[in-house]
Amino acid sequence: MVDDLKILVVDDEPIIIRSCESILKSEGYNVQGLLSAKDAILRMEQQPFDLVFTDLKMPEVDGITLIRWIRQKRPDTGVVIITGYPSQDTIKDALELGIIDYVPKPFTPTVLLDVTQRAVSWIREKKAPLEPKEKKEELPPSMLQEIDRVISQYRSKPGSSIPVLQRCQQIVGYLPPEVQKRIAKGLNMTPAEIHGIVSFYSFFTMKPRGDHNIRICLGTACYVKRVEEVLNRIKEDLKIDVGEVTEDKKFSLETVRCLGACGLAPVMVIDEETYGAMNPKKVPDILKEYA
Ligand code: FES
Repeated sequence: MVDDLKILVVDDEPIIIRSCESILKSEGYNVQGLLSAKDAILRMEQQPFDLVFTDLKMPEVDGITLIRWIRQKRPDTGVVIITGYPSQDTIKDALELGIIDYVPKPFTPTVLLDVTQRAVSWIREKKAPLEPKEKKEELPPSMLQEIDRVISQYRSKPGSSIPVLQRCQQIVGYLPPEVQKRIAKGLNMTPAEIHGIVSFYSFFTMKPRGDHNIRICLGTACYVKRVEEVLNRIKEDLKIDVGEVTEDKKFSLETVRCLGACGLAPVMVIDEETYGAMNPKKVPDILKEYA
């Protein structure tokens, strides 16, 4: 068992429920699936869940209504959306309700597990805010002042969260939880709302990046063309895991859900350069270009 967190998956497509259950159960997660938001509300009235994955488009009661219900009745439950082709408005509604992350359909086991792990750590951190943590880096006062200046500059403007996050990421280099909390407080939003925006847009990062940032696509087209072998080779050569930076701070490694270049699968991007038709043998020569 990974831990005792309870996960509920809500989707009107039985195949999605079955895949989520089998992928998550195989990693030891405690997961249940339901085919409608109405049933999910009935179930959650009886028992709390720590994390809910929900589709947005469902007959009768849709995902947004379910998320609103969760926010009111079970505010401690984390929400991740499973989405096909949602409209910008629906995504905006979901982000405003403070989702943790999203899983695009169709998804690969790696993407589902990656999002689940991040959501679970987010929930754990939220549940134990007072527990002593590993030494965290303090931001210098001048940086904090600069962040506060940006917040006050945008505070009264509608739709200011994205520009504020972009400016703060330029100032700090990334968006650690304490910066997200500061921005949330300053803009009168919840930390969950800010976190949802940061997780949703791939140009935001919660971890420091190296001089060169490597992004590996784990989307379906890349996954079926064995992108994991490329990822493993990079991890091995650079001796880092996903989300880490090499000791010399030269490279950082991230995974993404689709780089929009599926025809070139499997795809890797270093900074702004795209490398298509990747295979593990190409990795050392490409990395040498950046050494
Ligand atoms: S799935 Fe990899 S680029 Fe689209």
